[in-house]
Amino acid sequence: MFGRFKQTTFIMVSYHTAVQAVSLLALAVWCFPCRADVGTFDPCKDFFYHAWFPKGPLGVPICQRYLNQYRFASLYNKTRRTPWFSAYIYTPPVGKRPKEVWKYEPQLAYAKADGNMVSFPHGKVDQNVVESQAVQLDYINSSYTRGHLNPSLHHQNPQDRESTFTLTNVVPQKLKSNDGPWADMENHVSQVLSTYCMGKAYIVTGVIPYQKDRWLRERRVAVPEYLWSAYCCPSYKTLPENLTDIFPTFAAVGRNDPNSTEEIVPIDRGKYKKKFWGYDVRLMPLRTLEMHLQKKYGTVFSIFHNQCSEP
Ligand SMILES: *[C@@H]1O[C@H](CO)[C@@H](O)[C@H](O)[C@H]1NC(C)=O
Ligand SMILES: *[C@@H]1O[C@H](CO)[C@@H](O)[C@H](O)[C@H]1NC(C)=O
Ligand SMILES: *[C@@H]1O[C@H](CO)[C@@H](O)[C@H](O)[C@H]1NC(C)=O
Ligand SMILES: *[C@@H]1O[C@H](CO)[C@@H](O)[C@H](O)[C@H]1NC(C)=O
Repeated sequence: MFGRFKQTTFIMVSYHTAVQAVSLLALAVWCFPCRADVGTFDPCKDFFYHAWFPKGPLGVPICQRYLNQYRFASLYNKTRRTPWFSAYIYTPPVGKRPKEVWKYEPQLAYAKADGNMVSFPHGKVDQNVVESQAVQLDYINSSYTRGHLNPSLHHQNPQDRESTFTLTNVVPQKLKSNDGPWADMENHVSQVLSTYCMGKAYIVTGVIPYQKDRWLRERRVAVPEYLWSAYCCPSYKTLPENLTDIFPTFAAVGRNDPNSTEEIVPIDRGKYKKKFWGYDVRLMPLRTLEMHLQKKYGTVFSIFHNQCSEP
């Protein structure tokens, strides 16, 4: 309701000087079935366990829509030009990774734009798009890769996979994390969930910022110090004895900088190949993750309704 109201109000205000009261009323009626994609999670609340939105940082909710369907949700910070987190439902992957076609969110640049994500043009990108979000140029020749928060390999449907290639789902991630321990963790989660999860598996994946922000280019795109991820699968099979405490929830934090302190994620040189040293991922209970997030963000953090405790 709130989202609908907001969009209607916005249109009324922007037309205010040009249009008369009578047509304003008509516009409001005409807009009644409109559903905002940016500014509210309401249309895509199903991507959240119990339709409950995580408590933590504030930002711009984006219902990620692709080919006229909602695919997942992201909470975006327009100053950082990166998401705080993306939330999605896991489905076991089949087949190959799709071709990379990078997209952007037109509603961040133009509130009245269509709510579907759009592929970047080959030529010059519209200046309002450049101002409102990250563009491909921000990542080219930087020492960071485009790190998916919602990874394409956690989805079955080819179009769901393609929809993850939007820069509003991406943060600057070091190659050695993206191709190393973080990818291992994503595969591990995929294996655990496809083997033992019976109902829906909700995943939220986000970042921990540096105490003092670091950027790509001139304050264009903020670099995160860590990535984190947590799942919630309230309904699961009986576990083997050597696998306990991984349901209904589990979490992980990954290093994005070998120079970070070892307070949250220690460096274990016995665990990974040498080239991945310093990019460790530590698996941990949900509450431990929330405790670290709370400390780093300086705000109450709660990822899943009631700690994902009801089937
Ligand atoms: C967005 O990010 C900037 C830069 O890190 C930060 O200063 C600001 O507080 C963030 N805004 C919100 C609403 O979290
Ligand atoms: C990236 O770096 C290469 C090599 O230095 C250079 O040729 C190319 O123009 C750069 N591309 C962009 C988009 O800056
Ligand atoms: C758990 O035990 C099974 C055999 O019962 C074994 O195949 C599997 O690798 C073990 N998993 C772990 C994480 O130790
Ligand atoms: C880590 O510190 C070294 C030495 O100060 C520096 O050369 C390197 O760029 C730093 N790495 C990152 C990812 O900041």
